[in-house]
Amino acid sequence: MDVFTAISQRSSARAYKVTPVEEDKLNKILEAARLSPSSSNRQEWKFIVVKNKETRKKLANAAFGQSFIGEAPVVIVACGTESKSIMACGQPAHTVDVSIACAFIILQAYELGLGTCWIGAFNEDETKKILNIPEHVRVVAMTPVGYPNQPPTKKSRKRLDQIVCFEKYE
Ligand SMILES: Cc1cc2nc3c(=O)[nH]c(=O)nc-3n(C[C@H](O)[C@H](O)[C@H](O)COP(=O)(O)O)c2cc1C
Repeated sequence: MDVFTAISQRSSARAYKVTPVEEDKLNKILEAARLSPSSSNRQEWKFIVVKNKETRKKLANAAFGQSFIGEAPVVIVACGTESKSIMACGQPAHTVDVSIACAFIILQAYELGLGTCWIGAFNEDETKKILNIPEHVRVVAMTPVGYPNQPPTKKSRKRLDQIVCFEKYE
């Protein structure tokens, strides 16, 4: 599968089979995160792999009851371990770095036939308590990982001419 096929065909999965995720597939997904770029190549991140059923349920509760999170056999919680670093452009490095890694995770998972769903709606304090995450570490996102139990959804996107301009902002 080429990159554009993965980008254009993947969609968020919000229903999962109980089928476990093979270890080699999980490792490949985590490798995709490890190899992703980061600001000054600092790699200030940690990816917590959660398989424990009770913990997954707790994470689903921390994500305001999005129960499909707990139904997937694996949840990856993506954290920035150095949240103070601000890039010259004014953006916090950890948010950008961890988001790129999550995008790579999602695309790699898709190539392997696995579904994911970027989760941004969660209570960070609750998530940190559940996973024993230190105070200074920030939770940027989480995603369930598993075999989708739903057909892919059709993409709804703005047209290119609505989001692209040339030479100057229009
Ligand atoms: C930053 C971010 C936060 C998101 N948070 C959630 C979430 O908490 N729950 C959810 O079901 N989907 C969440 N999504 C998924 C989006 O709703 C989804 O990507 C978007 O509707 C486009 O659909 P697609 O992923 O199927 O292409 C999030 C996506 C992003 C990028």
